[in-house]
Amino acid sequence: MALVNMVRMLHYARKEGYAVGAFNILDYNSFKAVVVAAEELEAPVIVQTSVKTVVFWGYEVIFNWYLDIAEPVGVPVAMHLDHCKDPDIIKKCIDAGWTSVMIDASSEPFEENMAVTRQVLEMAQPAGVSVEAELGEIGGVEDDIAVDEENAFLADPEKALYFCRKLPVDCFAPAIGTAHGLYKGEPKIAFDNLERIAAGTSIPLALHGGTGLSDDVFKRCIALGCAKVNISTQLKYSFIDAFVRYFQQNSKEYNPLKVLDAQFKDMKKMVQEKIRLFGSAGKAW
Ligand code: 13P
Repeated sequence: MALVNMVRMLHYARKEGYAVGAFNILDYNSFKAVVVAAEELEAPVIVQTSVKTVVFWGYEVIFNWYLDIAEPVGVPVAMHLDHCKDPDIIKKCIDAGWTSVMIDASSEPFEENMAVTRQVLEMAQPAGVSVEAELGEIGGVEDDIAVDEENAFLADPEKALYFCRKLPVDCFAPAIGTAHGLYKGEPKIAFDNLERIAAGTSIPLALHGGTGLSDDVFKRCIALGCAKVNISTQLKYSFIDAFVRYFQQNSKEYNPLKVLDAQFKDMKKMVQEKIRLFGSAGKAW
């Protein structure tokens, strides 16, 4: 029961004005930290894998983590493929058991983005797999996709609404000025654009580039219709910083299991802070 796609969890989140956290995991330990964090807070959660992570570990290995960790828990857990440009990789994830995928054809011309997204919808939705798509280009680096600030551009609200009318995606990610990675200055968020898009479609919206946004920005975006919030960089920092900190404090002790435990606790704490902030604690069902 815990293995679900994103459809219902995002539908309720959008309707009730909270957001489901989507965390990019790196290994078994981070996968488990995300799921245990959600379980303790009775929250729905999305575990995301970047293409690089999938290629590093392999499809079957990651799907087995999903079965092992998420199936027994009493909260809904979606396993989502983050930013993927390649329909062949998407197909392999669907065949392997991912319950949700993102097609990112945002660097293509508008018509081509729509055509590729349609192709993925035709492949995914009959298999019960939810689909996220993107319009405009989100700045920063995510996986192998790098968009420098000059090339990042906002989603045009008219085009965004046309896209959402024509294609029944389960989640829509309009570029609104957020960026992947760490922000160099204060991000300029196009709240007006977000508001116009949200007013014209009931499709749950995704907020990318969650690391480094202020609590106020999160709350405002969620109130405007962002039902999914992506956090990747912050989990990577937690993963590495917890390791380094433990080792510095216990430099004579070569005990990898204690290091893994310190990482687990740190990642779980960070995920729980976000779940509480996004308002999804207690919303498991
Ligand atoms: P951050 O790396 O800024 O947390 O962004 C995550 C993201 O949007 C993944 O798609």
